[in-house]
Amino acid sequence: MSDLNHIVDDARVAFASATRPADLENEKAKFLGKDGALTKELKALGALPVEEKKIRGAAVNQVRQQVEALLNEARNALAEAALNQKLATEQLDVTLPGRGLAAGGIHPVTRVTRRVAAIFRSMGFEVADGPEIENDWYNFTSLNSPENHPARSMQDTFYVEDKDEHGRPLVLRTHTSPMQVRYARQHTPPIKVIAPGRTYRVDSDATHSPMFHQVEGLWIDKAISFADLKGVYTTFLMRFFEDDNIQLRFRPSYFPFTEPSVEIDMAFGSGPNAGKWLEISGAGQVHPTVIRNFGLDPEEYMGFAFGSGLERLAMLRYGVNDLRLFFENDLRFLGQFK
Ligand code: DAH
Repeated sequence: MSDLNHIVDDARVAFASATRPADLENEKAKFLGKDGALTKELKALGALPVEEKKIRGAAVNQVRQQVEALLNEARNALAEAALNQKLATEQLDVTLPGRGLAAGGIHPVTRVTRRVAAIFRSMGFEVADGPEIENDWYNFTSLNSPENHPARSMQDTFYVEDKDEHGRPLVLRTHTSPMQVRYARQHTPPIKVIAPGRTYRVDSDATHSPMFHQVEGLWIDKAISFADLKGVYTTFLMRFFEDDNIQLRFRPSYFPFTEPSVEIDMAFGSGPNAGKWLEISGAGQVHPTVIRNFGLDPEEYMGFAFGSGLERLAMLRYGVNDLRLFFENDLRFLGQFK
């Protein structure tokens, strides 16, 4: 018997020394595991004569119950200690006022893009999306830009190191105009679409950012004229600014992909600022070469295109005087558009 009592004493000491549940389970194995002290005693019973086996068996069983009781006690003690520790360190003051949730907002450029899309949709235009990494055929050649056009120079355009699968140079699109060609080649007239999105140029000052947004517009059918451009664009701006008295100027200009071409300026400001104009769009009648690149016959189809700066529209609508504010992510600025 004395050797069995020893097992209980050993277990008491071993269980008390375990400070973590995993340690305790390891200690348990030393007594109740496959090679544990008690398991050995149980196995040894088999070799005893019947009478002795009964007596010894009862004793071993009693010891086992004691060890198991000790084990349970130790487990409970560890669990309780862990709980107390948690309660002591993770204090929760349920009387504190809540922190509240800050409401997010839509970026002013996104807001303006959605507004532009909604207005053009209401005038029957589709809204299309296209790649920002563009090959130089869509970005320049298809739009009738000669090989030596200055816009192609390394100073104005971000070139990508890779070439496309036909070996053509890749650029970060410098305008949304390549979407005219992409869209027209996949659709049949009448073609009536706008394509808003990001564009990139090596440029940075109060009215230029290396990344900016444009919205391209294109309406091609059998008899879409410059008068349609004036009507559609003026209607768009009146609705965009919620003002029927806006003043516009269609100023003669040059683009390789339109003939004739204009720049559209809008008067803004009052008081000392009165009489100032801001250019918001290039536009014109699509050049016959570009119509041909649409896969259409310029003798049969004609129409207008425009490409407008979305930040410019946002600046005028919200009275922002520096375009870079849109991209600095200063919450004091952005929070005003919530
Ligand atoms: N792509 C021109 C630019 O980024 C803007 C432009 C001018 C677009 C005339 C047009 C257009 O569609 O007809 O400066």
